[in-house]
Amino acid sequence: MSGIAETFRQLIGTRTSVGAGSSVQAPASHSPMTDALSPKEIAREKLAEIGCSGGGSFVGLCQIEIPTKVNGKIINSSIGAFTYVQTDSTLIDTEVGRFCSIAEHVSAGAGEHPVDWFSTHPFVNDPHDVAAGLASCYPQYREWLGSKPSRYTPRGGDKVRIGHDVWIGEGAFIRRGITIGTGAIVAARAVVVKDVAPFSIVGGNPAKHIKFRIDEALIDYLLQSHWWDYDLRPLIRDIDFSNVPDAIERIRDAIEHSRIRRLEPARYQISPEHS
Ligand SMILES: CC(C)(COP(=O)(O)OP(=O)(O)OC[C@H]1O[C@@H](n2cnc3c(N)ncnc32)[C@H](O)[C@@H]1OP(=O)(O)O)[C@@H](O)C(=O)NCCC(=O)NCCS
Repeated sequence: MSGIAETFRQLIGTRTSVGAGSSVQAPASHSPMTDALSPKEIAREKLAEIGCSGGGSFVGLCQIEIPTKVNGKIINSSIGAFTYVQTDSTLIDTEVGRFCSIAEHVSAGAGEHPVDWFSTHPFVNDPHDVAAGLASCYPQYREWLGSKPSRYTPRGGDKVRIGHDVWIGEGAFIRRGITIGTGAIVAARAVVVKDVAPFSIVGGNPAKHIKFRIDEALIDYLLQSHWWDYDLRPLIRDIDFSNVPDAIERIRDAIEHSRIRRLEPARYQISPEHS
């Protein structure tokens, strides 16, 4: 996952050309940069054209790999290739790896208010009215706001980090700062307030480990395979994916003998002025 994050960081400030045709393509690192994506180009149709379908929206600084499908709201977040985010899900300050399935009504990275101050209302800690936006409809609200920068730091860290091949069930809540390991499943309606180990299935409120989704002895092999970094198309029809050890072995063998290539998805940065 950190690899994905690093890749995205390298892209900040770059503009990848808008590719026509294939849905997965190499970044245009050797071709001249095109103009920055304009606000119009970030319109839904343009996103669909570059391989990001869905009726979702992007706010703030976001990065996507192609293909993705986003029906939810993505705020200051990054989404890896082949990941899809369903309707009414909101991801804030969240890094999502590749091949993740994020169901409807998922919330990740929601803001936190101070729990042990005089009040939890933003007038005590949000001098710029970022969270509530009350001044936009009631200008006198500015008189309620202090001028000093907030001393409040949310507990649990900044980002939600979601690995590769994670399935997040309908209506799950993932607290700010949580890490969900590669291969994990978050059950429907889970309230995740602690980190989730790779390949763990968690559920409930608060979410607890239910079981590992595959034989524990295989977890390291799957993690080491890094299959999400490869274009598996040449193997797809020959592999029985219900047979996990056999699938791992075939993919490992194909990587070792260079029968499959690394994925090189096109990547786009969507910066605040484009959202
Ligand atoms: C977690 C899930 C994948 C089930 O996995 P499973 O391996 O088939 O689990 P099982 O049915 O064998 O249940 C295992 C245990 O988990 C519990 N469990 C299952 N779903 C749960 C949930 N959402 N919350 C809490 N506990 C749950 C079961 O009660 C059972 O507990 P027990 O061992 O004490 O009896 C499934 O329940 C789920 O949440 N799916 C998400 C569906 C969804 O959101 N789809 C949206 C479209 S992508």
